[in-house]
This record gives sequence, C-alpha cells and structure tokens, in this order.
Amino acid sequence: MLGKLNHIAIAVADLQSASDLYRLAFDATVSAPQALPDHGVTTVFVELQNTKLELLEPLGNDSPIAKFLEKNPAGGIHHYCIEVDDIQAAIKTAGANNLRILGNGKPKIGAHGKPVVFVHPKDMLGCLVEFEET
Ligand code: CO
Repeated sequence: MLGKLNHIAIAVADLQSASDLYRLAFDATVSAPQALPDHGVTTVFVELQNTKLELLEPLGNDSPIAKFLEKNPAGGIHHYCIEVDDIQAAIKTAGANNLRILGNGKPKIGAHGKPVVFVHPKDMLGCLVEFEET
C-alpha cells in the first residue's frame, strides 16, 4: 500500500529567503510559490534527485503553520508525505487501526492537484504524515 516518499515539508517564516537558500546557495531548482488557502499555506517545492522538499509559509490568519512556527521560530520539519495508490483504501486502513485522519476525515486537494489526507502525529510516532494519491 505504501509507495515512495513524495516529499519532506519544512515550515518556514519567510518563503522567499528559504527559497533563496536552496536556489542561490545550492543552485537547486525551486518551483514558483503556490497559495493553498484550503490548507492555510503557500508552498514551493525544491527538487532533489530522489524526492522533494516542500517549504511551507503560513497563509491567512488561521494557518496551522503559524502555530508550528510559534513553537519553532527558526522553522523545522513539519510533515513527510508518502505516496499511496488509493487514498480511500489508505483512509480505511487508518480507521481500522485507530489512526485519526485530521479535519473531517475526507481528502483535500494538495499541492500537486491530487487528493491528500493527514494522519494525527500522536498516532504516527510523533510525526505528522501526509498520504497523497498518485
Ligand atoms: Co505536504
């Protein structure tokens, strides 16, 4: 059921300077910023050879990233994302194993235009885990 690591997401206070760090210091390919109001974030993706980094900046007044940055002002690893071929099957598996899906338990459209869900970090070894249907 579990596929590839799609990305590791890092919360940042300033998306421009975070992008510049990877673009200018490491000559990395960084995508254009994309606002995701449904998720309360603006994102860019940094291309790596085997996966991506997702840099997340708070968007709007009620962004979950804002709370994270209050606790981690320098930024920090926020979640990682594993690809699944069937998001409904992943939700069913989570439910059968008492793993809580955040929000209303239904998929939202993520940064790649694909359905995603997040599993509660307390149920996933202290890490917020995103499943993305590919
Ligand atoms: Co993500």
